[in-house]
Amino acid sequence: MSIIESKFTSEDIKSFSETIRKNYYIAPQNFDKYNVKRGLRNADGTGVMAGVTRICSVEGYYIQDGEKTPKEGHLIYRGVELTDIVEACLKENRFGFEEVVWLLLFGTLPTAAQLEFFNNTLSSCRELPSDFIEDMIMKAPSNDIMNKMARCVLALYSYDENPDGLTLDNVTRQCINLVAQLPAVMSYAYQVKRRQFYHKSMYIHPLMPGYTTAQTILRSIRSDKKFTDEEAKLLDLCLICHAEHGGGNNSTFTTRVLTSSGTDTYSAISGGIGSLKGPRHGGANLKVAQMLEYIKQDVPDTKDEGAVADELVKILSKEAGDGSGLIYGMGHAVYTLSDPRAKILKAKAKEFAMGTEYEDDYLLLETIERLTPQIIMERKGISKAICANVDLYSGLIYKILRVPTDLYTPIFTVARVAGWSAHRIEEIMTGGRIMRPAYKNVNSKKNYVPISER
Ligand code: COA
Repeated sequence: MSIIESKFTSEDIKSFSETIRKNYYIAPQNFDKYNVKRGLRNADGTGVMAGVTRICSVEGYYIQDGEKTPKEGHLIYRGVELTDIVEACLKENRFGFEEVVWLLLFGTLPTAAQLEFFNNTLSSCRELPSDFIEDMIMKAPSNDIMNKMARCVLALYSYDENPDGLTLDNVTRQCINLVAQLPAVMSYAYQVKRRQFYHKSMYIHPLMPGYTTAQTILRSIRSDKKFTDEEAKLLDLCLICHAEHGGGNNSTFTTRVLTSSGTDTYSAISGGIGSLKGPRHGGANLKVAQMLEYIKQDVPDTKDEGAVADELVKILSKEAGDGSGLIYGMGHAVYTLSDPRAKILKAKAKEFAMGTEYEDDYLLLETIERLTPQIIMERKGISKAICANVDLYSGLIYKILRVPTDLYTPIFTVARVAGWSAHRIEEIMTGGRIMRPAYKNVNSKKNYVPISER
């Protein structure tokens, strides 16, 4: 595969950037002057109300006498607490992701018969079109599986006999197909990356009929196709926790914005994938894994809390880490005291890591979780409660499951397509108006100057 050669000299680029820097500058006070809700947030950090939904509730604070008061986090799918779903699945030792997909898409918990029917339906929809793997996945391999998945979802448009139809029947059919097909898209895209970028063997195993999403993923990413039931249930738990997170999270809102324009399902969902890739959103799980490596390099003894604290201060002041100033896996737009997903995943990470080669990583994550709130509070002068989010411990679970880091955010995508689908359907059924916020122009008017006079 050839890379497009740059036709610009470094001087060209420097001069473009200088011009851009000058002409794009906006004085920060303009944002206050025009009452701009930066990041679509109110002054107290709560999100601007953009819609009404029945799909999910994300709760991290309550408002008392106009004041935002922190509380333990709750994530509620269609009225049912995530923790109750997880507890039931663990107690009954069964898979739960497909049940959650049904709940999100259709609004009620499935009966045993409905769940069996749905499992069979998903299983029968998993295969990709016969020429798709060769034409779309094998060709033009990508170093980034998220980009490749977005491209593949867009490409699936061409394989649909009614791609643009916006009837409920048509969109529901497309969404169920995408939920079923994304695991294979992800795994095959990874296999192609292995061959092209890592110069390793590629293995594309046939899909196993009747397998759940978690089983399908594990089988397809292991050369010997083998995994234990315990491993598959652990991955299933991760999928349950990542399936949905309200209408306001960046990728779901992206999907809803695109949907409000009347565009097709493939365009709307690929937009969601693009958003989820971002390191402040789903891409944070990969960033946490990289951050652990930076810290381990810089801090020889990660049990030395003082040294870890110093390193976190350096990360925050952009002297260490990836230079963003962010401690990944920490903080959340809604949650304050706790993120219920982080609590669930932390407990599982601990159960699987203690006493194994992963124990040190687990203990380091715990240290980061314990030290970060105070450090951010002191260094940034903010009083907002900061807790671990879903991405802090998920990467360690994937590491324990021998999932390659390339697939950390893609696995999030495989799960979240369920939530995006429900929100797309809800937007089509209840939104009714194109989303179109305003931007205040702060540029002065200029006369057009003929080219000969510039
Ligand atoms: N590391 C460094 N600074 C952080 C932080 C973190 N993990 N979390 C919050 N902050 C900072 C913010 O940058 C902000 O500072 P600023 O006023 O100088 O911009 C301040 O604390 C308050 O931010 P807050 O309102 O709590 O967060 P937000 O809603 O703007 O952003 C996140 C939420 C998730 C984007 C943010 O916490 C973050 O970037 N976390 C790290 C990335 C991550 O783990 N993302 C996954 C989310 S599930």
